[in-house]
Amino acid sequence: MAERIDGKARAAMLREDVAAGVQTLFDATGVRPGLTVVIIGEDPASQVYVRNKGRMAEAAGFVSNTHRLPADVPEADLLAIIDDLNADDSVHGILVQLPLPDHIDDRTVINRIDPDKDVDGFHTVNVGRLSIGLDGFVPCTPLGCLDLLKHSGAPLTGAHAVIVGRSNIVGKPMAALLLAEHCTVTIAHSRTRDLAALCRTADILVAAVGRPGLISGDWVKEGATVIDVGINRIDAGEGKTRLVGDVDFESAAQRAAAITPVPGGVGPMTIACLLSNTLKAAKRARGRASQS
Ligand code: GUN
Repeated sequence: MAERIDGKARAAMLREDVAAGVQTLFDATGVRPGLTVVIIGEDPASQVYVRNKGRMAEAAGFVSNTHRLPADVPEADLLAIIDDLNADDSVHGILVQLPLPDHIDDRTVINRIDPDKDVDGFHTVNVGRLSIGLDGFVPCTPLGCLDLLKHSGAPLTGAHAVIVGRSNIVGKPMAALLLAEHCTVTIAHSRTRDLAALCRTADILVAAVGRPGLISGDWVKEGATVIDVGINRIDAGEGKTRLVGDVDFESAAQRAAAITPVPGGVGPMTIACLLSNTLKAAKRARGRASQS
């Protein structure tokens, strides 16, 4: 039976480390890291996520602000808000919650954020930095997955990592991170031929496709480490719903050496890594200020 990788506990430790770092920065400089989240519209899942971000940011000693904009806000107004946040020295991290309404172009908005305040790591400059191994901001979910993998003790060098899902938010940055850890990386997706056979070759299997239970135990190599990024809400009968991952946990746990549960695996790591990125942004801003 696989070891259960406890993301909830690891995220709590990481948030404690960040809180200690915030205090050290404040004691030395009087600066508190500032995180501003911009949320557009009323998507319930985004509202919950943004509330949790605010709560955890404050608990770690950050200055946390949220701009709530109506779903029909003109793109130009959103860009003007980002310009103001870019110019505000008390704001170290800016996050625009995705998805955006259809009339707003994601890329235009993301690339308007100062890359040094882009704590999501979505700006083209940060994507480029990650791809060539320069220091920058790395997207929070894959950063959390890598942290869990490292803490699980799975050997990374030379391991075959299969990532199922090619999104800009998870799959592609995860591939860059694992490549930098000297894994041999394969990115699979919905059109990959014989996905099951490919997954069976994975020492490290990262599932990020948003298909509940797609990966069953017989797709998992004996002794593999499985990271399940999926968060899918399914009907549990009697008018109830429940959260499941992209991996069928019960059967996969029979073969894996270690596996993340859903909930309580990757999910809690995302906000912890966001706070870690924001502390890093504040320290770097401080470093630039003391040099000029
Ligand atoms: N929506 C879902 N996940 C994320 C994330 O990590 N960052 C942002 N900005 N929006 C999201």
